[in-house]
Amino acid sequence: MKTILVTGGTGYIGSHTVTALIQSGYNVVVLDNLYNSSEAVLDRIETITGTKPKFYKTDILDKEGLKTVFAENEIDAVIHFAGYKAVGESVQIPLTYYENNISGSVNLYEAMKDAGVKTLVFSSSATVYGAPKSVPIREDFPTSTTNPYGSTKLMNEMILADVCKSDPDWSVLLLRYFNPIGAHQSGLLGEVPNGIPNNLVPYIARVANGTLEYLRVWGNDYPTPDGTGVRDYIHVVDLAEGHIAAVAYALEHKGADYINLGTGNGYSVLEVLHAYEKACGKELPYQILERRPGDIAECYADTEKAARLLNWRAKYNIDEMCRDSWNFTLKNPDGIK
Ligand code: NAD
Ligand code: UFG
Repeated sequence: MKTILVTGGTGYIGSHTVTALIQSGYNVVVLDNLYNSSEAVLDRIETITGTKPKFYKTDILDKEGLKTVFAENEIDAVIHFAGYKAVGESVQIPLTYYENNISGSVNLYEAMKDAGVKTLVFSSSATVYGAPKSVPIREDFPTSTTNPYGSTKLMNEMILADVCKSDPDWSVLLLRYFNPIGAHQSGLLGEVPNGIPNNLVPYIARVANGTLEYLRVWGNDYPTPDGTGVRDYIHVVDLAEGHIAAVAYALEHKGADYINLGTGNGYSVLEVLHAYEKACGKELPYQILERRPGDIAECYADTEKAARLLNWRAKYNIDEMCRDSWNFTLKNPDGIK
């Protein structure tokens, strides 16, 4: 049985991936400093899978802590989710973002190298495409970034490409996620944003449960069918399954490669709002405001490379994503504690 170390494994995408890994027969070791998640996630994973993964409350900035994790476990591959992810915050406190997402990640790669573990799946983001020249977005499109968070993703991609060049034994998959939403169908795992959410679906969920008054739609004058921004929303359970395919691939192939994880379908802000209205059974108020600085009109994936290399495609549609988000929201008014 292969052992996978999952950094950030109690977080939103991490917890769903740990669940899917256990259900696929992997032994899983979770590392997280619990900055943006709760240890109670591990009990919930046990409720779903019957297995509570071994857990290290460790920070990736702590080199000794990382060494201990690799010394105490026979790790075959690492899936690296740990990091900060708020675009706006990264503009305010860039050095904190570079320290955590770059220095922390380099510590992890060094610990892997020292332990002879050279297989890695990295959480990158569609943000590395900047303002794409056209959609759907292919992996060979030019990359650029507009904020420190995005820069940390692109720099990690460059660092890991260099590592693979320096040593042909390394195997690295750089997964560029589009917009993960939704929650585990059990209602036990989901996204718990800190404070007022910035992202669309967590915000709509709070309008639906009455904690926020109305959705602010950032602009309806984009060159899109209804004028609102279009994104490729992907169910977090589909994304987790994408990681299962990715880790299996990485264990069998050498070198670095880049893969989009999206559905290939674009939905507008108003289409998502209407899908959520269907899920929660009520009309949700909104107001149209100015465009949000830094937003692009349209962003959705070309998914052929993921299908070809990983034999993976997303299965869930926008109605199912909203249904599962609402189920989690209803069942967890106080988050995961
Ligand atoms: P999350 O915040 O829910 O999970 C990240 C986890 O990492 C948290 O549990 C946090 O406590 C942990 N963490 C942060 N810094 C750490 C450190 N120094 N040491 C140890 N643990 C640390 O976020 P998520 O949505 O699950 O995202 C996971 C990864 O995917 C991140 O790298 C994120 O940038 C990337 N990503 C997310 C999205 C998205 O929209 N959610 C999109 C593209 C890429
Ligand atoms: N939107 C609103 N109102 C809101 C929130 C969002 O109208 O309250 C709109 C945005 O303008 C955009 C769409 O909903 O058109 C999606 O916005 P999100 O903030 O949910 O997602 P983004 O596509 O802007 O950003 C996400 C992640 C980033 C990542 C980026 C590219 O949050 O981390 O995708 O992958 F960098």
